[in-house]
Amino acid sequence: MTRLVFDFPCETPLGQNVRDKVDGEKGRFIMRTFPDGETYVRLESLVSGRDVIINASFVHANDWFLNLLFLADALHSQGARRVGLLAPYLSYMRQDTVFHPGEAVTSRTFARLISTYFDYLITIDPHLHRYHNLSEIYSIPSTVLHAAPLISEWIHRHVEAPFLIGPDGESEQWVKAIAGEIPFTVLNKIRHEDGHVEISWPPLEDLSGKTPVLVDDIISSGATMLQAVKHLKNLTAVAPICMAVHPIFAEDSYQKLQEAGVKKIITCNSIPHPSNEIDVSPLCVDALKF
Ligand code: R5P
Repeated sequence: MTRLVFDFPCETPLGQNVRDKVDGEKGRFIMRTFPDGETYVRLESLVSGRDVIINASFVHANDWFLNLLFLADALHSQGARRVGLLAPYLSYMRQDTVFHPGEAVTSRTFARLISTYFDYLITIDPHLHRYHNLSEIYSIPSTVLHAAPLISEWIHRHVEAPFLIGPDGESEQWVKAIAGEIPFTVLNKIRHEDGHVEISWPPLEDLSGKTPVLVDDIISSGATMLQAVKHLKNLTAVAPICMAVHPIFAEDSYQKLQEAGVKKIITCNSIPHPSNEIDVSPLCVDALKF
């Protein structure tokens, strides 16, 4: 029997591609809000005995996380054989330790909740920094996919003489995986608060004739990319290309980055955004071949 693919909270181009490629059937449900703000959920698809995937776009997760759990629980209660979560962007990964006394390690709480309501998890480049594996916090089987080969392919096809720059130590893993033969450097970043970072630069080789390509896993407030772009202006006249796997782009950060004098902003479609140019659905489809 074909798999049922539910898109949550709404359909995304990535979800559509995945559903088409795995020959899945669109999962149907009604979700609305009662006058008191509580949620009403009704499954329209018959799910008993079926293999179900929920493709969830986890940006602004707080707005609808509880509703996702309601949906997953309804699927289990109505007899779905297995309920998998495809979360191309996995939120709540950055608070992975107690940075200041009294802080909650929300990554653990979030992981516990997901592990309670889902049978497996598939995601792309989660922010694994202090955790080395998702299994340190998720108790369900998880598959981690990597966008590096697709990003690398894009750079090879579109950029002549690239020079890769990772804006902080955490980005080193992605930059190294993307670089191959391409020269690269990794900067040092100190985050003072949300949206305020300080970046220090090692001595760089001569950048003349090269196109700087800044690569990070996430662009959230945009502060990291903006700082790096501003500093690059002192080093080269060539406008940089900014690339990221997960384009969160909070508030007006996309506009600010565009206005900072970048050549292009290129992202993967793990989160729908006008900068999406790299389709990661082939990775997801491969992971769903079981
Ligand atoms: C490190 O913490 C991450 O790899 C990204 O550099 C970070 O999430 C980017 O955040 P922002 O856009 O808010 O500077």
